[in-house]
Amino acid sequence: MLKGKNILVTGGAGFIGSHIVDRLVGECTVTALDNLSTGKEENLPEDAIFVKCDLSDSDAVKKVIRDADIDLIFHIGANASVPHSVDHPRYDFDTNALGTFNVITACLNSDVEKVVYASTAAVYGEPVRTPIDESHQLHPISPYGASKLAGERYGFAFEETYGIAFAAIRIFNTYGPRQPRYVMYDFIHKLRANPQFLEVLGTGEQIRDYCYVSDMVDGFVMVAERGSGVYNAAGGHPVSIKELANLMVSVISPEATIQYGGKTWAGDVNTLYADISRIRGLGFEPKVGFEDGVRKMIAWFEEMGQSPGF
Ligand SMILES: NC(=O)c1ccc[n+]([C@@H]2O[C@H](COP(=O)([O-])OP(=O)(O)OC[C@H]3O[C@@H](n4cnc5c(N)ncnc54)[C@H](O)[C@@H]3O)[C@@H](O)[C@H]2O)c1
Repeated sequence: MLKGKNILVTGGAGFIGSHIVDRLVGECTVTALDNLSTGKEENLPEDAIFVKCDLSDSDAVKKVIRDADIDLIFHIGANASVPHSVDHPRYDFDTNALGTFNVITACLNSDVEKVVYASTAAVYGEPVRTPIDESHQLHPISPYGASKLAGERYGFAFEETYGIAFAAIRIFNTYGPRQPRYVMYDFIHKLRANPQFLEVLGTGEQIRDYCYVSDMVDGFVMVAERGSGVYNAAGGHPVSIKELANLMVSVISPEATIQYGGKTWAGDVNTLYADISRIRGLGFEPKVGFEDGVRKMIAWFEEMGQSPGF
């Protein structure tokens, strides 16, 4: 149980990180570490302690963990974008691979009992079979996939060598409020700007396995409380980008025509569909259906659209 613990959430001001912080404040003392490169301080609840810090700065990371007497870490902070990793592989390495190394080395000789790491489906690369289970081969095809896998490998090696408990969640596409980028946001944005037309990059045939953010947070809490090793976490249902585009159009602007650009981008994987039996073994069960979740995301966008500065 996490109640009463001192918890660090790296990337705590970002999309998934801030939802984890929301879930824990009130029960735990929560410190959010973030460099605010994509995260926003306003994503954090008042009760969270915020420390601006870069994961690539090992001394600063160590100081945060010592000063706050941390018991457990949700290591969520990262460059989370495949295209950004393709354009800036060095930044991606410094944040994801070195940043994770810094977090786990800072745990040595500290009170930290466990690190729960946000890994990614990108560690698999293009799958040779679907649904993808955790024993699927690991063959990342982007700098991002490689740097996140490096973090996993270091975590498990440190667990073996130094005994700091480590668990990793390979996140498939997660969506919901406070995610101001990626495909869902992009579709809503485009349809609001031009209700007659939606341009979709790629062929629309790509398969994704969407998980609503509150379900993903459930997964993180379960793994923190009783998990070990590596888990896929996803909605457990394959959805094509074409289906997503059709749903968005039917909700936002039924008169819009959809055009597919045909081209994909470097590092993009065609099919991501997860076998989630292992995390189901901990009690994980996605509760928010795809259509409901998409409607919630659209409602958030509408709400934010009315606030200044969005
Ligand atoms: N959202 C998804 O669908 C998805 C899928 C697979 C994996 N993930 C993983 O989940 C985690 C969270 O992703 P997200 O979607 O919430 O993205 P996000 O960009 O909203 O969150 C990342 C957070 O890390 C912070 N950060 C980035 N570089 C940093 C640095 N050098 N030092 C300190 N903080 C830094 C950012 O400011 C941001 O707040 C990431 O580890 C990502 O790799 C996300």
